[in-house]
Amino acid sequence: MPNSFVQVATVSEIPAGQTLRIQHQQRYILLANVGGTIYACDDTCTHEDSSLSLGCLDGELIKCTLHGSRFNVRTGHPIEEPAEEPLRTYPIRVDGDSVLLCC
Ligand code: FES
Repeated sequence: MPNSFVQVATVSEIPAGQTLRIQHQQRYILLANVGGTIYACDDTCTHEDSSLSLGCLDGELIKCTLHGSRFNVRTGHPIEEPAEEPLRTYPIRVDGDSVLLCC
């Protein structure tokens, strides 16, 4: 069955430089607006069980508040230990004010 995009948020819920945590198919996903482009990755840090939505977004980087790892929300890659495993990322489309996610 082909993957399909479903609406998970509206653009107006995620101002530039902000994030939004959503739940979709029993996963917590972080939506991040980086300069008007919205990216999606898992919200749970790959080091331990901490929500990245609690951290600050600085450009493409989100910082985990628990031990300080930073992740690139576009690629999912950690750029700072202790986290070593990347976050899963998800394709996003924007249609008008609708944010559509595919997983
Ligand atoms: S839980 Fe995120 S760096 Fe430790």
